[in-house]
Amino acid sequence: MRWCLTAVLFVALICSVRPDEEFPEPSLRIMAKSTVYNVGEIKGIFCKGQNLVEPIHWYSPSGKLIEERSTKNNRVFVERKIEDNGILVPLIIHKIKISDGGNWTCKSGNLSEVREIIVGEKVKLSDTNVTLEGEEGKSVKLSCEANGYPAPVVVWYKDKQQIREKDEPKKYSIKPDNTLEIKKLNHADVGLYVCKVRQKALSHYTEKTVHLSVQHKPILYNSDTQMIYTNQKYKTEEVYAILNDTKNVTCSAIANPAPTYRWYRRQNGFDGDPITDPDTVVTSEDGTNSVLILRIRDDSYYGEYRCAANNSKGMESIIFHVNPGSKPEPPDFVSLAGANTTALTFNVTCSTCIFATGEEVSPDPKNLTVIGYILQLAPAKAGYPVDWDGAPEYRVDVEEANNTLFTVGPLSNGTVYHVRVRTRNAAGNSEWLEVADAKTTDDAIRLTATIALVIVTILVQLY
Ligand SMILES: *[C@@H]1O[C@H](CO)[C@@H](O)[C@H](O)[C@H]1NC(C)=O
Ligand SMILES: *[C@@H]1O[C@H](CO)[C@@H](O)[C@H](O)[C@H]1NC(C)=O
Ligand SMILES: *[C@@H]1O[C@H](CO)[C@@H](O)[C@H](O)[C@H]1NC(C)=O
Ligand SMILES: *[C@@H]1O[C@H](CO)[C@@H](O)[C@H](O)[C@H]1NC(C)=O
Ligand SMILES: *[C@@H]1O[C@H](CO)[C@@H](O)[C@H](O)[C@H]1NC(C)=O
Ligand SMILES: *[C@@H]1O[C@H](CO)[C@@H](O)[C@H](O)[C@H]1NC(C)=O
Ligand SMILES: *[C@@H]1O[C@H](CO)[C@@H](O)[C@H](O)[C@H]1NC(C)=O
Ligand SMILES: *[C@@H]1O[C@H](CO)[C@@H](O)[C@H](O)[C@H]1NC(C)=O
Ligand SMILES: *[C@@H]1O[C@H](CO)[C@@H](O)[C@H](O)[C@H]1NC(C)=O
Ligand SMILES: *[C@@H]1O[C@H](CO)[C@@H](O)[C@H](O)[C@H]1NC(C)=O
Ligand SMILES: *[C@@H]1O[C@H](CO)[C@@H](O)[C@H](O)[C@H]1NC(C)=O
Repeated sequence: MRWCLTAVLFVALICSVRPDEEFPEPSLRIMAKSTVYNVGEIKGIFCKGQNLVEPIHWYSPSGKLIEERSTKNNRVFVERKIEDNGILVPLIIHKIKISDGGNWTCKSGNLSEVREIIVGEKVKLSDTNVTLEGEEGKSVKLSCEANGYPAPVVVWYKDKQQIREKDEPKKYSIKPDNTLEIKKLNHADVGLYVCKVRQKALSHYTEKTVHLSVQHKPILYNSDTQMIYTNQKYKTEEVYAILNDTKNVTCSAIANPAPTYRWYRRQNGFDGDPITDPDTVVTSEDGTNSVLILRIRDDSYYGEYRCAANNSKGMESIIFHVNPGSKPEPPDFVSLAGANTTALTFNVTCSTCIFATGEEVSPDPKNLTVIGYILQLAPAKAGYPVDWDGAPEYRVDVEEANNTLFTVGPLSNGTVYHVRVRTRNAAGNSEWLEVADAKTTDDAIRLTATIALVIVTILVQLY
């Protein structure tokens, strides 16, 4: 029975193989890697036939038979090539047009294959990096001529955030031609605008960047709090200064063009002569601020000082009331509370200091609240005195009177630091309190295993 089945299979095998050798299967295939083309290109799309009886013909999307090249027909035509293993009929299209897009058919007898050709026009932006200056209160239009086919998706971004007209219709308007209009310009509109253009069908992406600046008159702000002084007519700021100390009064402005600053000592409500002594007035080169360095030698230095910042767009001024303020008490106890490879944490307490409680805003000038500490860390060098000059200072703020832990860093690993700490209030700083040396841990790998040991060691050294 088994040999009988084998014989049947053998015969079936022969029967299924033989006809192929004598009458090979006809086939037809369009050979095209990609069928997305850019307008204006020259394209050849090959149709390959094997064992065909009838000739190969190409038909356009509208069903028109494509002829061979002639003087009349020289943009879209076919060629005929015989190869060892069949016939190749390339369809050649010169200066391909958007209207050439569609389903093209290669046909031989009743065999055929259809390929969809997409002809697109990639968006080419002419200026991709533009600088523009707008004027305060006016509007400005940023163009993005994204002409292409299929129609691209165009999205505007400001400083990496997408602009949505419907979220801020009073500020932005995006026109049908993708122009972005920014209305009522102010300093906050300064920034980097990017028009991102995408044509998914063509796998094409391009973008244009616009650097927008806005000319506006100076806007004064408090450089400590970064708060802009509200738009009142007379801007004032209370400042406290310690007798026999130096006080820096800083006048900061956002302005374009960069402003010029002038300082005046005011007596009885009037400006005196401008203060121009370069040892007293130091204005930053970029015009972002001007510092009045007051050396409070006696009570006569207290009083009013006016800072005026002006540029071609206008002038703003602020009056600083310089009041006597108390020097804060230094901290009375500082200990190392934690260390790792890059940071040290200190427990700083000041039992004689007064801390702000809740929303208390107006301090008693004789008794100003402590706003924070300054920690200074100088790397220890054996055999050398401590080099405090140029040692980095870390300013920390007291957020809650009961939180006395402050972390400073980044620091070097495995390094011993000399440490000193002083208290800050609105008028100035206390004397320094020098504390025990502190050491960062050696390296990250041993950290977890040895952190407890290191802290214990340092604490032992401290006591
Ligand atoms: C081409 O043919 C495909 C499949 O039949 C169809 O989905 C497509 O819409 C056709 N394209 C055009 C431009 O007619
Ligand atoms: C296609 O045509 C061939 C002869 O040219 C014929 O033998 C075959 O049966 C046809 N096939 C179909 C699917 O019509
Ligand atoms: C674009 O222009 C700005 C200013 O004109 C220039 O600083 C920047 O390098 C330019 N960026 C590129 C990518 O060309
Ligand atoms: C300020 O300095 C002067 C002279 O240097 C001194 O007489 C005076 O006591 C000092 N005042 C204070 C409050 O430190
Ligand atoms: C005061 O300002 C001057 C000039 O900007 C600066 O060199 C100095 O370090 C400042 N002093 C203090 C105590 O901030
Ligand atoms: C601003 O100051 C400059 C000189 O620093 C002066 O020439 C100009 O007139 C001033 N402008 C205004 C509006 O005050
Ligand atoms: C060290 O401690 C500081 C503060 O606790 C932390 O921010 C930092 O990530 C730590 N560094 C390492 C290397 O663990
Ligand atoms: C900080 O030091 C004070 C005074 O020695 C102590 O009472 C307090 O518990 C310490 N705080 C922490 C978090 O170690
Ligand atoms: C400062 O305030 C604290 C607590 O409010 C008080 O104990 C202290 O006597 C005051 N010091 C002065 C100089 O007014
Ligand atoms: C510190 O005090 C504030 C209220 O003043 C409280 O909400 C907070 O829980 C306290 N924190 C600690 C660590 O005791
Ligand atoms: C500091 O860290 C680096 C790499 O993390 C290590 O090579 C070096 O030995 C460490 N230095 C000390 C003193 O632990």
